[in-house]
Amino acid sequence: MKSMDTNKKADKNNCQLNITPVFDKMLARKDKEQLLRQRGIMVWFTGLSGSGKSTLAIALEKELHNRGLLSCLLDGDNIRSGINNNLGFSSEERLENIRRIAEIGKLFINTGIITIAAFISPENAMREMAASIIGQEDFLEIYISTPLEECERRDIKGLYAKARKGEIKEFTGISAPFEAPVNPALSIDTSEHRVEDSVHKLLEVILPKVNQ
Ligand code: ADX
Repeated sequence: MKSMDTNKKADKNNCQLNITPVFDKMLARKDKEQLLRQRGIMVWFTGLSGSGKSTLAIALEKELHNRGLLSCLLDGDNIRSGINNNLGFSSEERLENIRRIAEIGKLFINTGIITIAAFISPENAMREMAASIIGQEDFLEIYISTPLEECERRDIKGLYAKARKGEIKEFTGISAPFEAPVNPALSIDTSEHRVEDSVHKLLEVILPKVNQ
């Protein structure tokens, strides 16, 4: 009898058997980028819950908009209440969460849009997978390095308290791991810098990549 894994692989192959992508017939990414007068890239925020990813991502998006640059923000809690509402927080499900986000992100990037992703994405392997789906040259990894003690002190959503009481399992930083990125494009500790200053730093890294 075939193992589960072999069956899954066979299913996957069957699913893809009658698929004929038409990428080569569609308008090209460069056509969209010329229209928008910008290059599409992925700005990928990683960091603990409560580290300030969403706050910075929102402020960055506003600043890009004010400069006439089109962006799209994909944020953990939003995506998890929609397309990924069937996923939990085991390592495997987080990986699938990130895989789908990377694939969605790629669609936006191929439309010339500056895509900002704000997800804990706690393991190096998850972020490496995202970078390889999107393409290393289009992937800017931004580490929001705010220490665990500060995130827990803020506890904006009250989740750290619940995790400490054991009411939430596999909570990142408490009962599930977070691996700091090895070589991020930028690290920002939001307990040390004002939002405006961090956005300024982000723009210094992003603008040279998006300006055609
Ligand atoms: S990821 O690990 O798969 O990248 P994601 O960024 O999508 O996580 O979602 C994180 C958000 O889900 C947190 O900000 C928090 O609000 C909520 N959450 C609920 N349960 C957990 C958990 N066990 N670990 C981390 N975050 C959780």
